[in-house]
Amino acid sequence: MASNLARHFLLREDVVFLNHGSFGACPRPVFETYQAIQLELERQPVAFLGRELNDRLKAPRLALAPFLGTTSENIVGLTNATEGLNIVAQSLDLKPGDEILTTDHEYSALEKTWTYVARRTGARIVTVKVPLPLTSEAAFTDTVLAGITPRTRVLFLSHITSPTALVFPIERAVNEARARGIYTVIDGAHTPGHIPLRLDDLGADFYAGNCHKWLMTPKGSAFLYVRPDRQGLINPLVISHGWTADSKAPGAKGAFGSSPFIDELEIRGTRDPAAWLAVPSALDFRKAEGWDQVARDCRDLAQETAARLGAMTGLRAFSSPGFCAPQMVAMPVPKADPLAIHDALLERFNIEIPVFDWQDHTIVRLSVQGYNSRPQMDILLSALAELCGLSLSGTK
Ligand SMILES: Cc1ncc(COP(=O)(O)O)c(C=O)c1O
Repeated sequence: MASNLARHFLLREDVVFLNHGSFGACPRPVFETYQAIQLELERQPVAFLGRELNDRLKAPRLALAPFLGTTSENIVGLTNATEGLNIVAQSLDLKPGDEILTTDHEYSALEKTWTYVARRTGARIVTVKVPLPLTSEAAFTDTVLAGITPRTRVLFLSHITSPTALVFPIERAVNEARARGIYTVIDGAHTPGHIPLRLDDLGADFYAGNCHKWLMTPKGSAFLYVRPDRQGLINPLVISHGWTADSKAPGAKGAFGSSPFIDELEIRGTRDPAAWLAVPSALDFRKAEGWDQVARDCRDLAQETAARLGAMTGLRAFSSPGFCAPQMVAMPVPKADPLAIHDALLERFNIEIPVFDWQDHTIVRLSVQGYNSRPQMDILLSALAELCGLSLSGTK
């Protein structure tokens, strides 16, 4: 019932797993590399973590940077996008009355991060409402730019949104904000391995992305990109051996010979770096399996399933197809208790999929990855038909 590619994954066969978006899923060969790294570490911890770690941490940066459209000096390996965005949010020197401009589609943990920062600094969060359905770049950019005032210091945007699974067309908003001296901070938690990235061309000041979602590394693998001219602004959340007293001096070197930006963020006490060190293996897996084509097939299946559900519900999608995340679609369903639908999908149909309320909508967010198949979409649609009192007629 699952796709032929499901053999590469460790997911339980009895679960129709339609929630790649939350935490990803790691292919078997990548997971085996990860475990081999952990074993190597455990067999000689002092060699691995004491003498070799600094060198070992370079390989994922070197492998990942071209995939992200940047160079290895501009990224550091972290545990997750939340950590990267916290580093940025807590590094910026905000003052009372400064404004942090953002949208109403942001991820709740990051809304909390900025609320925390606003409380500590006296800055204010200004939230613009992105018009739905999103059907033009201009509608997005004009809305965001209309939120700028002389007090705006930060523009914080998701690149792919969590509740609505939209690809925000952020390019022009980033350019315009930077031209006005506003820090641009981008939450790319869902983008690496999902949409093409050219971070240097995008030109955002700060961009955090997860490798453990669509790049399919083990959990706990992410990067923070910082433009070279902004790296001096960054302070680590954890002060450890990588910190140096003169790190802000012009031309300062990091404690371990890289830049202060890299050494201060990557050296943060004893930890298991294996998920980050497995990044090259995840990139190799994608290449070996021709994942660009797999991803295109997944996109077609996701969009087709969304259209079939739309035909059943008569409800409009949140965007025209060009702004929909390729492998993740947020599909409105008739207003209902989202927990009851979620639990019934899981308990009665063995379907793992997020169902939640967002603004005035009840949403089912479908992720499609290589291990999924069209018969699984049929199972989802017939389960939703039963639970939401919809007719399946008209969907093929
Ligand atoms: C848009 C967005 N930002 C940030 C995150 C946080 O990711 P993590 O918990 O890996 O830091 C998520 C998680 O789903 C997300 O959807």
